[in-house]
Amino acid sequence: MLISPEQLRVRIGELAAQIDTDYAGRELLLVGVLKGAIMVMADLARAMHLPVKMDWMAVSSYGSGTKSSGVVRILKDLDTDITGRHVLVVEDIIDSGLTLSWLIGNLRSRGPASVDVCAMLRKPAAAQTDVTVTYTGFDIADEFVIGYGLDYAESFRNLPFIGTLAPHVYGGTGNTFRDQKR
Ligand code: IMP
Ligand code: MG
Repeated sequence: MLISPEQLRVRIGELAAQIDTDYAGRELLLVGVLKGAIMVMADLARAMHLPVKMDWMAVSSYGSGTKSSGVVRILKDLDTDITGRHVLVVEDIIDSGLTLSWLIGNLRSRGPASVDVCAMLRKPAAAQTDVTVTYTGFDIADEFVIGYGLDYAESFRNLPFIGTLAPHVYGGTGNTFRDQKR
């Protein structure tokens, strides 16, 4: 176990309070990125006092290699028109940041009032991208994590904590997860 349910609860509460303050008087649309963000979205939204609306997107990286290509396909688009609206993208984890970078560009092109990002976890590589994450839960080391929405081959999403997966469970190199993330 890397981050306990209690640590998650406390941090989510802090982020929610910060977001409540920052968006006071404005109408906020939370955009969860499926599937990993389901737990963060559910807990964050309930910890907030502002009335928010929620929508969801599902995206998938093109590519055959072992790295996120940054070229993204929309599997499920928003149901909502975001023109003139304040949007907060809710993400589980930012690794290379390529997916998020593309997503933000895509959302900005729709003419929203603002687009910001809240990510529960951030890996060191995220610092190398142009993506600014306004709200970050925890900065973690570059290792594979599961639970609280995060999966390995679609398993472990329902763990109430964030844990690390021993390399022998996923076959070795430490980077093979990149082939099947999301
Ligand atoms: P990026 O485009 O490299 O930033 O990829 C980010 C996405 O990869 C996240 O939204 C997750 O779906 C997935 N991902 C990255 N690291 C992990 C991990 O350690 N465990 C599970 N999924 C991960
Ligand atoms: Mg994701």
